Amino acid sequence: MARITASVYTSHVPAIGAALDLGKTQEPYWQPVFQGYEFGKQWMKDNKPDVIFLVYNDHATAFSLDIIPTFAIGTAAEYQPADEGWGPRPVPRVMGHPALASHIAQSVIQQDFDLTIVNKMDVDHGLTVPLSLMCGQPQAWPCPVIPFAVNVVQYPVPSGRRCYNLGKAIAKAVASYDEDINVHIWGTGGMSHQLQGPRAGLINKEFDNAFLDKLISDPEAAADIPHIDYVREAGSEGIELVMWLIARGAMADAAGGPRPKAVNRFYHVPASNTAVGHLILENN
Ligand code: DHB
Ligand code: FE
Repeated sequence: MARITASVYTSHVPAIGAALDLGKTQEPYWQPVFQGYEFGKQWMKDNKPDVIFLVYNDHATAFSLDIIPTFAIGTAAEYQPADEGWGPRPVPRVMGHPALASHIAQSVIQQDFDLTIVNKMDVDHGLTVPLSLMCGQPQAWPCPVIPFAVNVVQYPVPSGRRCYNLGKAIAKAVASYDEDINVHIWGTGGMSHQLQGPRAGLINKEFDNAFLDKLISDPEAAADIPHIDYVREAGSEGIELVMWLIARGAMADAAGGPRPKAVNRFYHVPASNTAVGHLILENN
């Protein structure tokens, strides 16, 4: 049987990808950001998953504003890094896992979450920057990845509670997959940031750290945070944090099991316009 052994949470700031791609990681501005992922990079090598289920958001790249799925699962065999205006990032293509992805689609849809099925798409910084942060610059990513895109760009976006419950459904789906594989689930985006309007540049360390505390030890309370609190406290793009609740809902304690262990926590401001947060939780 497949099992989810760990969840990883991280911001996805595009400038982090550019800093890595352009060889700037040791510059004073970027060094503390990349330093914060050294533990995670080693942890990835020591705890290599068979598959990563990567929850992220598309930034009007694969999906234009013409069609906006709330939840979309990638069932393709591979995905190319998207061209977001400066050419595609020089990172490996992403190999998918069509068998597990189709199984999860079947199970989760039968658990009453209506997913959009995506057989072809390019993946933007929302997916590739977290991979870069956790894996560095390898020739190939260490394992197949199932992209799972969430609409946090155009309202109405899903609630934190719905995301948390969806995580539970994904965990059930994985547990019913008939192959003995180790799956990691990642929740990405955030933390506080606002890229537009009079409050552009907003960062809220208190909110972010309280969110990390809740996510670790009181995920039910984190799932209860309403949209308006994210927008007021964490800025218009802080709403990306609801994606972290999908990964958190897939951990054992959400289904009545033991609380996961926090093996790493990192927070740094700023990177570009954004507060960078990172967490690794392991199921016991
Ligand atoms: C920035 C952050 C994001 O989440 C994003 O999607 C684009 C830009 C930023 O900090 O500049
Ligand atoms: Fe973003």
